Amino acid sequence: MYNENLRKQKELILCEDGTNTLYSKEFDEPYHSTKDGALHESLEKHVKPSFAIKKEKQQLTILDICFGLGYNTFATIYYIKKHNLKTKLHILSPEFDEELIHSLKSFDYPLEFYKIKHIIDAVSNDLFYKDEQFKIEILLGDARKSIPKIKEKIDIVYQDAFSPAHNPLLWTYEWFRDVRAICKEDAILTTYSIAAAIRLGLYENGFFIFLHHAKLMRSSTVASLTMLEGLEYIDMELKKERNLTARSLRDEVYR
Ligand SMILES: C[S@@+](CC[C@H](N)C(=O)[O-])C[C@H]1O[C@@H](n2cnc3c(N)ncnc32)[C@H](O)[C@@H]1O
Repeated sequence: MYNENLRKQKELILCEDGTNTLYSKEFDEPYHSTKDGALHESLEKHVKPSFAIKKEKQQLTILDICFGLGYNTFATIYYIKKHNLKTKLHILSPEFDEELIHSLKSFDYPLEFYKIKHIIDAVSNDLFYKDEQFKIEILLGDARKSIPKIKEKIDIVYQDAFSPAHNPLLWTYEWFRDVRAICKEDAILTTYSIAAAIRLGLYENGFFIFLHHAKLMRSSTVASLTMLEGLEYIDMELKKERNLTARSLRDEVYR
């Protein structure tokens, strides 16, 4: 189990896009790529590719793994408001660091989030927010335990855990099996990871794999339960033939 004292140790870091993130001593890793930038990364790797694919949907349920500083959730609301979309949004987000969430009302977010400060405050205080268009629920506790209890069916998964090297249990075949079990038939998943082991875990759970060319940053992965047009398809059978030792991560190795 993770160490409570270490969980409290975090340092503020300025990313290259001018937005702030934290460095976690517990996971020995920043919450965002400091090179790609916290807000820029959220928008380019998660929000924009998701809304490009799901733009016709009037109602979306998003699973944001995990909440952290909430950039992915808040950037999604910022994007919807900026583009004047009428999409009704329900975001479910596991997070076990309650103290972090309660501290977010004082976090120095970018100006882009200024108009949604009331939402940030509500989530930080109550772990919950709801108005006519947006509903945000933090699922407090271990994501491995909360995911199988979710009753809603998910349209979009933002897979944004700490890296597989530092938080492997949120990247295994079994993790993606649990995530897939609560997905709609046409769900998509976005992630910064382009590692063969991670893509295999998704592929073995029925996801098609695509390369997403993000703007001014490294490429990322879009996975989808249906075939998508207009994205660079990755043939995982070919990848397996070319990389005979590649394997998905397994719970039994890390538990
Ligand atoms: C990389 S950060 C997420 C960044 C976030 N998406 C954002 O945009 O700010 C990973 C988060 O996962 C949380 N976490 C790690 N393992 C977890 C678990 N098993 N259950 C719930 N939360 C977990 C950490 O506390 C941390 O806040």
